[in-house]
Amino acid sequence: MARRNKIYEGKAKIIYEGPEAGTIVQYFKDDATAFNAQKKDVIEGKGVLNNRLCEYFMVGLNQIGVPTHFIKRLNMREQLCKSCEIVPLEVIVRNYAAGTMSKRLGLEEGTQLPRPIVEYCYKDDSLGDPLVSEEHIAAFGWASQQDMDDILSLALRVNDFLSGVMYGVGIKLIDFKIEIGRVYDGDYQRLIVADEISPDSCRLWDMETGQKLDKDVFRRDLGNLADAYTEVATRLGVMPKTSTPITKPTLIN
Ligand SMILES: Nc1ncnc2c1ncn2[C@@H]1O[C@H](COP(=O)(O)OP(=O)(O)OP(=O)(O)O)[C@@H](O)[C@H]1O
Ligand SMILES: [Mg+2]
Repeated sequence: MARRNKIYEGKAKIIYEGPEAGTIVQYFKDDATAFNAQKKDVIEGKGVLNNRLCEYFMVGLNQIGVPTHFIKRLNMREQLCKSCEIVPLEVIVRNYAAGTMSKRLGLEEGTQLPRPIVEYCYKDDSLGDPLVSEEHIAAFGWASQQDMDDILSLALRVNDFLSGVMYGVGIKLIDFKIEIGRVYDGDYQRLIVADEISPDSCRLWDMETGQKLDKDVFRRDLGNLADAYTEVATRLGVMPKTSTPITKPTLIN
């Protein structure tokens, strides 16, 4: 079999050249990293869970008309996506204060924000992905004003969709991060949601207990990360609730 061409290996995924021009394959690894890779571990099964969860969110977004790079899931760990030029920004949407925002502004984690707040960080690991303003983005030419309007509207639509989906299974969407890619249709460019949406890139709290069901479990040593992601997948119906086979149907009167 011909060897695939690896384009990039990141902390959580490997990107391979896809089978057709304009496509890539994303392979989800089991590696977990935090604090700019200062903390590292291998969490068995994380890649499989993230691949399935990411598929679930991306398919849903495509169905409601939010364009994403996702084409189809190929197997347990891989998905076929449109290749794009990644805008060098991490786009963060926050509904409740947590993490760096809590630290920066002295807000208690879990404080509801007056409205969703969108933040931008410049994607550069060696600088620790610093927070930047739209002034920086325009001045350094990372995205145009038109791009920024489109990015804001994509980010807010993803937020409404994800908040609703999570609300339906008793989970509060505290915040999340997405990446945006450019694709070209002839002379025109379009912006689409790229990279991944998974519990690695969201903060998810159980609505009743406040239990964390996202990567903070790993960052803060709060328990088993795969168990937390399995809980999210099970609630969303992405993973079966039980591995015990059902032998015969049960009639309910
Ligand atoms: N459709 C796409 N086309 C091209 N590149 C993509 C696409 N989707 C995601 N990427 C890029 O592929 C890489 C995925 O790997 P991973 O998430 O492991 O990277 P990372 O370690 O987080 O590093 P980075 O700082 O580059 O995001 C990222 O660099 C991401 O920007
Ligand atoms: Mg990444």
